[in-house]
Amino acid sequence: MSRYSKGAIFLHWLMAVMIIGNLAGGFLHDFIPRGSPERTLVMDLHKSFGLTIIALTLVRLGWRLANPPPPLPAYFTSGERLLSKAAHLGFYGLMLALPLSGWVAADRNDRPLAFFWMPVPKFGVGKAMGSSANEMHELLGWAMLALLALHIIGIIKHLVMDRDNLLPRMGVGRPRA
Ligand code: HEM
Ligand code: HEM
Repeated sequence: MSRYSKGAIFLHWLMAVMIIGNLAGGFLHDFIPRGSPERTLVMDLHKSFGLTIIALTLVRLGWRLANPPPPLPAYFTSGERLLSKAAHLGFYGLMLALPLSGWVAADRNDRPLAFFWMPVPKFGVGKAMGSSANEMHELLGWAMLALLALHIIGIIKHLVMDRDNLLPRMGVGRPRA
């Protein structure tokens, strides 16, 4: 059975945790009282992990160029191949566009931006552009959530219906014979 490289597996799961955490923080911070220190902490961590995700995506793309993914199992239909390619491409696009739109959205207010308490420059595009970027950020957040749902449904389908080795390819469980 062919597997992704150790580096690809490590980056996949590290980034999955960070992205799911950021989706949760982004969508759920409205339930924390406005102006409270907890809400500020959640959003400071949201921005810091979001900026980390930009850097990790660039590392991951470089790693992928040097370590191409293993070929898909031979019995995959052309439709499945296309869907898998499109979904993975969509993820890479969103892993850059989503945090970048968040970064531009930081221009919506005058609060300083920080990466784990180290100052980070803003783009300086003004409040109106910052607000548009914020709307884009929300839209892309929903797109990421939808793609994640499709990704997980696909993986469950392969696990339960095809009983194949998709999860072991990403380092989880033993391959079936
Ligand atoms: C992959 C990384 C990221 C994900 C998955 C993500 C996801 C989200 C989501 C789902 C929301 C809620 C949208 C809404 O309902 O209005 C949100 C809000 C926000 N995000 Fe992100 N984000 C990421 C990176 C970033 C980055 C890098 C920054 C800034 C440097 C940022 C700044 C913000 C801001 C300012 C808000 C609006 C908060 C508010 O409405 O009070 N995000 N994010
Ligand atoms: C937001 C979170 C996630 C993102 C952004 C993400 C992204 C990706 C990407 C981009 C790939 C293709 C890797 C490449 O070819 O370079 C991939 C593959 C994979 N992911 Fe995820 N993933 C996430 C969460 C998950 C979860 C929760 C599971 C488990 C249920 C999972 C299981 C897998 C598996 C098994 C593969 C290998 C598919 C194959 O063999 O082609 N992922 N993921």
